[in-house]
Amino acid sequence: MLQTGRRCFSVLARCQPMATSSARAYSTENAQKVEKKEIFELDGRQYTPDALYNLSPAVRRLLDRRILQETSNPLNLLKRRVVDYVHQTYRKPGNRSPLFTICESEPRVVTTYQNFDSLLTPEDHVSRRPSDTYYVNREHCLRAHTSAHQHTLMKQGLDAFLVIGDVYRRDEVDRTHYPCFHQIEGVRLYTRDELLGKKSDASENAAELFTVPPDASRVPEKQESHSIDAVKASEIQLKQFLESLCDELFGKDAEKRWVDAYFPFTHPSWELEVFYNGQWLEVLGCGIMEQKLLESAGVTDKIGWAFGIGLERIAMVLYGIPDIRLFWSKDTGFLSQFAGKQPGEDVKYKQISAHPQVIFDISFFLPDSTEFNDMTSDVYDTIRTIGGELVEQVKLTDEFENKKKAKKSQTYRIVYRSHEKALTKEEVR
Ligand code: DAH
Repeated sequence: MLQTGRRCFSVLARCQPMATSSARAYSTENAQKVEKKEIFELDGRQYTPDALYNLSPAVRRLLDRRILQETSNPLNLLKRRVVDYVHQTYRKPGNRSPLFTICESEPRVVTTYQNFDSLLTPEDHVSRRPSDTYYVNREHCLRAHTSAHQHTLMKQGLDAFLVIGDVYRRDEVDRTHYPCFHQIEGVRLYTRDELLGKKSDASENAAELFTVPPDASRVPEKQESHSIDAVKASEIQLKQFLESLCDELFGKDAEKRWVDAYFPFTHPSWELEVFYNGQWLEVLGCGIMEQKLLESAGVTDKIGWAFGIGLERIAMVLYGIPDIRLFWSKDTGFLSQFAGKQPGEDVKYKQISAHPQVIFDISFFLPDSTEFNDMTSDVYDTIRTIGGELVEQVKLTDEFENKKKAKKSQTYRIVYRSHEKALTKEEVR
């Protein structure tokens, strides 16, 4: 509530120490005991834990937070940037509506079949071991990657989709590792006509992907059931899609390179690397989807590509965020740097102090016949000029007009914080 004071400058100061560095606020989950419940409920579904259950209270708290949906979180900014770009660039030929379906609310508990076995080669890449995976019971775990949803979504009939969300892996916590992180998965399936254009000879069987030689075998360039033409055409589409997405994120001038890779659910497979800030950064993994994966989802006449991007790693370099734990910070010194920004804007994080904030509200009458927004920029400048380095944030929080007396007043909230020491209320005053 605005306080229109007796004096022209009515000053209200409030000391509010905030959590210090977010890195310190989160202890490692290993320090906490697993607390098993009768029923485990997540995303509106219930599961019965068994002896394999290994979710710590710390990871349960992470599940509740949903930072990707918080609009002032840089991960949300990056997600919107990718989605906006994909929607603008890829549209359905007829009505020009977005081609890709965005799947953001898939249940985060998946079956071990979805997480590992639908991907054909259970052993490597995304490990099945309880020391690496959060299990709810023998059949269910927290998704360790968004690829876990490929099978279900293809089975539902989707041909072009992005799956976006939080994924969980048991990991030591450090500057670049955290048990929860975020991924965007992309899948695109093509019929023969979509990929190679309409056939002149309608008698040929479109389902033979797409006209495989009889001695078909798996070679580095392709899978058994694929024709080299279908694979090459898919590869071109995939690489064009991802290179242009990469240009959007890192700028057209950033150097890129394709590196051969191995993933259990694609063949051939690649990683895309970008030269950014003086080093090669691995941006994503991708490849031509294993045909058996499509078949197991009931898709018999299409070929497809898939990719997976980790959002934290990219957000850290794009926004200059030095520690993955900062994404979980509730410190307004961090979040206010991203709040209200447009996805395409160039934002660079400025390190926040580990010392507590001191919050100070200031209210005053405007000179007669001044309009509300006449003064706001000047007030911001004045506060920053006087407060200098100690002013972390300034925000107009309230405006009030007393029509009878023809008086207008405004309240600003100033957040003070020093890099050197904990400020006191008296110093700020
Ligand atoms: N699921 C992989 C991971 O978590 C990323 C990935 C790689 C996804 C290649 C894909 C892909 O769809 O084709 O590391």
